[in-house]
Amino acid sequence: MTAPLMVSPDLDLDLEAIIGQCVAILGIRGSGKSNTAGVLFEELLKHSYPLSIVDIDGEYFGLKERFEVLVVGTGDGVEIEIDAGSAEEVARISMERNIPVVLDLSGHLAEERSELLQEYLGALWRLAGSLRRPYIIGIEEAHEFIPQGVRSELKDLVSRIALRGRKRGLGAIIVSQRSAKVDKDVLSQAGLLFLHRVVHEADMRVYGELLPWKKAEVKEIVSALETGDCIFVDHETIVPLHVRERETFHAGFTPTLETVVTPALRQVSQAIIEAIERSKGKRGRRSKVQLLEQRVHELEEVLSERQRQITELEDVARTLGYIRVEVPRTAREEALAPVAAREERADTAGGSQWAAAPVEAPSAAILEPPVIDVGGQRERILPPAVHRHIERLVGRVSRGALLHRRLLAFLVAHAPSTYSVEQIAAWTHCPPGVLENDPPREFLEMGMISTERRGGKPHYRSTLKAFAMREFEIFEPDIGGTELHLITSQLRDRLLEAAST
Ligand SMILES: Nc1ncnc2c1ncn2[C@@H]1O[C@H](COP(=O)(O)OP(=O)(O)O)[C@@H](O)[C@H]1O
Ligand SMILES: [Mg+2]
Repeated sequence: MTAPLMVSPDLDLDLEAIIGQCVAILGIRGSGKSNTAGVLFEELLKHSYPLSIVDIDGEYFGLKERFEVLVVGTGDGVEIEIDAGSAEEVARISMERNIPVVLDLSGHLAEERSELLQEYLGALWRLAGSLRRPYIIGIEEAHEFIPQGVRSELKDLVSRIALRGRKRGLGAIIVSQRSAKVDKDVLSQAGLLFLHRVVHEADMRVYGELLPWKKAEVKEIVSALETGDCIFVDHETIVPLHVRERETFHAGFTPTLETVVTPALRQVSQAIIEAIERSKGKRGRRSKVQLLEQRVHELEEVLSERQRQITELEDVARTLGYIRVEVPRTAREEALAPVAAREERADTAGGSQWAAAPVEAPSAAILEPPVIDVGGQRERILPPAVHRHIERLVGRVSRGALLHRRLLAFLVAHAPSTYSVEQIAAWTHCPPGVLENDPPREFLEMGMISTERRGGKPHYRSTLKAFAMREFEIFEPDIGGTELHLITSQLRDRLLEAAST
């Protein structure tokens, strides 16, 4: 399998040297890590070296421009949407038939990513045990999966692949912008290192342990590295070099003013796609159309129940003078309505069935969010990848049921207070029974809201802040507390909008 890999004119690297290796590519955002990883993948694909790429930000589908790569997952460029259920089948197809796979997890939430990865990597590990062929797995944002000092099943699995995959022919290319957060054992055992620029003291210390130089030298040399430059380490060999630019389309590149045209992409054989679709069916999964048909049916039932209850409530309203029968305001207007109006309603509701549970008054501070310079300011502070992830999350929320979106908007606007279904129903102009029969599962599962029973009745509250912390953690250290605050507030605004569209 001897063949040179054209990574840089200054580097003499052979395909043979990659088999079963753990390759680490480190550096801050924008230092050229994904480009380096992309170049390695291109070189491996040129030699039909079988591989999988765990792609967190939808950066690698451009490889299809030149190579037969199967892109699965949930991102924008995927050919087949898969979840944890079909992960094993895809792993099998990839390893047994030598089909390179990009596992695009950009549309997944952090928790779903872990579940799918565990299934997928577990299957690759088992298959490699019996097949014992060269295979390599690329993992972006590796600190998320092999964090220093934290144990998890997924971490055990990824570490096992990186540290003990060699005997099975299994290698790993781990990419991370947080060198200090990546498991030390994995880094110290990595056979090949591409060390791009870092600036943070903690990362510099990690480089100090990986390079046999004095601390001051490490700092001087590493700080001077430009985009695409790195220090390559292969056991005793240490070479500073500039990695060539990717030949295929780099979707995650830093945007410039030039318009980007997504290239025509090559299609993996239809037979393989069909095989994966069939595997979904075997596991009792239903097609998207069937799922949508069922959802339409459910919604029709909800609607007719709602109609019935509206009539009932109109009677109640007339008697109690509680609900004014009028065209409902949009959720956004509702959310931003003055506190006084709500308190007035809560007062009026006293003693009625809607006030059965204790009410926590909405906080005025939440209703009047701190004035943040919108538009340009945010654009400048938040990295593009963060914007892309916000868009994905909003897209996902807008696919939720309208009623649930309005509930979500109400809770988000009144965070962190907890409300009973009756209170939410009254304030979102929805008959209470409907929410009890049709709980907002999609948003509970996403972790944007949480539920608990009080006095036998479901209550809900927004967990948007914790959700944002979880979802955007991978972007640290590019983002800190201020950015997280901006993200949460931007998400909040977008969710309020999503409730009325
Ligand atoms: N070796 C290189 N030659 C030319 N351009 C590069 C090189 N490495 C990176 N770039 C460009 O720099 C930008 C950031 O690179 P990227 O690989 O996405 O960085 P990272 O993954 O470290 O955040 C991209 O626009 C990329 O095209
Ligand atoms: Mg990158």
